[in-house]
Amino acid sequence: MINKEIIERVNKIDECYITHFSIKKAIEGIQRCILMSKSSKEPVNFLLTGDGGTGKTTACNAVLSKYKNSFENRGDREITVVPAFYSSVPNPVTIKGVAFSMLKSIGAPAPNRGTAIDLTYRLGRLLKECETQVIILDEFHHLLKKDLGKSNDVKEWLKSMINEYKVPVILVGTPECSDIIDSDTQLARRFKYRVELINLRFGGQKKGDYRMFVEALIKLFIKEVKVNSFPDFQAQSNCLPLYAITGGNPSNTVDLIKEAVLLSLENGNEDITKEHFIQACNNLIFPYSITKDVNPFELSIENLNLAIRNYTKKGRVVDE
Ligand SMILES: Nc1ncnc2c1ncn2[C@@H]1O[C@H](COP(=O)(O)OP(=O)(O)OP(=O)(O)O)[C@@H](O)[C@H]1O
Ligand SMILES: [Mg+2]
Repeated sequence: MINKEIIERVNKIDECYITHFSIKKAIEGIQRCILMSKSSKEPVNFLLTGDGGTGKTTACNAVLSKYKNSFENRGDREITVVPAFYSSVPNPVTIKGVAFSMLKSIGAPAPNRGTAIDLTYRLGRLLKECETQVIILDEFHHLLKKDLGKSNDVKEWLKSMINEYKVPVILVGTPECSDIIDSDTQLARRFKYRVELINLRFGGQKKGDYRMFVEALIKLFIKEVKVNSFPDFQAQSNCLPLYAITGGNPSNTVDLIKEAVLLSLENGNEDITKEHFIQACNNLIFPYSITKDVNPFELSIENLNLAIRNYTKKGRVVDE
């Protein structure tokens, strides 16, 4: 039976994130660019790329959480100070669409009213008035879509916006975004700071980021969702099936654990067992799975290692 309370309880985990090595590097890199931009001649921009579910938007939200809007009285007017905001490139891509998205995020009234030139002009005025220190522009890979003419227009628009308004821009998207930027030397020069988030590695004798991520996540589930226990994922052999089904992808890992917890709680059980993980694997789709068509929680450790070895060219996921 669907139970709203249980779902809300499990979704508490969505409010948390884990600062593994590469996300920390991304967050600190972005913060550094914002700081450098305050006193440098040109704004210092940042490009954050990664495949789906590697944590790009999570990193952006972590940065945004450090900035809060505030109100200020200037003369007879009260204005909203918006130090940072998040917007995304719409699909299909147009200059007006991007300007609209930014105006909406900064809180402009009637953000769609006027031509692309009107919207750009208003955006420039508001960026100054709202004392904006950084713009995060997600889904930049939409520029890769068919209409190259419009994509080029948006690239040119972005360049002149950076030049004129002097607010640093954090571009976010899939790894192909690097190609969009590098195809234009002027943009490449403006986006020299970059981080690519990738699926986390399992590691060998020394625990890799993935194992540490799982351990931190389990602790968070116990603290925030208030469940009793999980299988011992600190043991390499127990953690390996998680890695095999998720390919080290943070989003897939959170989804899998959430599903196992949901199944367990729906059965009135506060202790999550291997059986719940077996069922959870069957309930979801795992695009990065290393063990296609088999449930890794049902494989022996030898067969699991073999499957992983067959999948990875070097076969060194576990014992590198
Ligand atoms: N560092 C992290 N700590 C905890 N959960 C994470 C972390 N990174 C990702 N996740 C989980 O993965 C989900 C998806 O992450 P996010 O939206 O940041 O991915 P993304 O890279 O922006 O993906 P997309 O390219 O599809 O937009 C999050 O809602 C969260 O559940
Ligand atoms: Mg995202």
